[in-house]
Amino acid sequence: MSHTTDLHPDIEDVLISADQIRDRVRELGEQISREYHGRELHVVSVLRGASIFTADLIRELTVPTVLDFIAVSSYGSNTRSTGVVRILKDLNENVESAHVLLVEDIVDTGLTLNYLSNMLRDRKVGSLEVCALLDKPERREVETHTRYVGFTVPDAFVVGYGLDYNQRYRGLPYIGMLKPEVYGGR
Ligand code: PRP
Repeated sequence: MSHTTDLHPDIEDVLISADQIRDRVRELGEQISREYHGRELHVVSVLRGASIFTADLIRELTVPTVLDFIAVSSYGSNTRSTGVVRILKDLNENVESAHVLLVEDIVDTGLTLNYLSNMLRDRKVGSLEVCALLDKPERREVETHTRYVGFTVPDAFVVGYGLDYNQRYRGLPYIGMLKPEVYGGR
């Protein structure tokens, strides 16, 4: 058995298997390719969580793509409620008139997505849609519109396939639920 199929000792349970992710990413790729047929897609991946999902997703796209990355950080718990995020690394490309697909690993409160969507609209993109691997609707604080969603997940501590806890577990090939003792829960 390879290490990628063994369950990590800090993981309580696999929520979404590597096979399920692969199948769903393929479906999303087909849908996006169909809906953007004849257009060039400007993929904006939000570091760091979305990097792995983005890498797999763009390989399922049949439309021409430009790949760009943005890195953001929230200001911290006190100011999180304002929804203001700090841009740690801005886009490399000019997105004016571009058909932008914003790729996220997870939509939680929706604040990051909301901020980035507004920022991209200010830059006069030609169109803007969002693709998120995971959606955690129970945690939503602001209304968001995510056209492409991989999976809807419960309000649990999920890691893997790009998602971290204290910067760990991003390389797990599945989405798993962390054992409560790992994050100090019960
Ligand atoms: C996560 C995730 C989204 C954001 C979603 O990023 O990748 O960008 O939080 O949360 P929200 O809907 O409540 O705004 P995180 O800040 O953990 O950084 P990371 O991608 O580097 O892990």
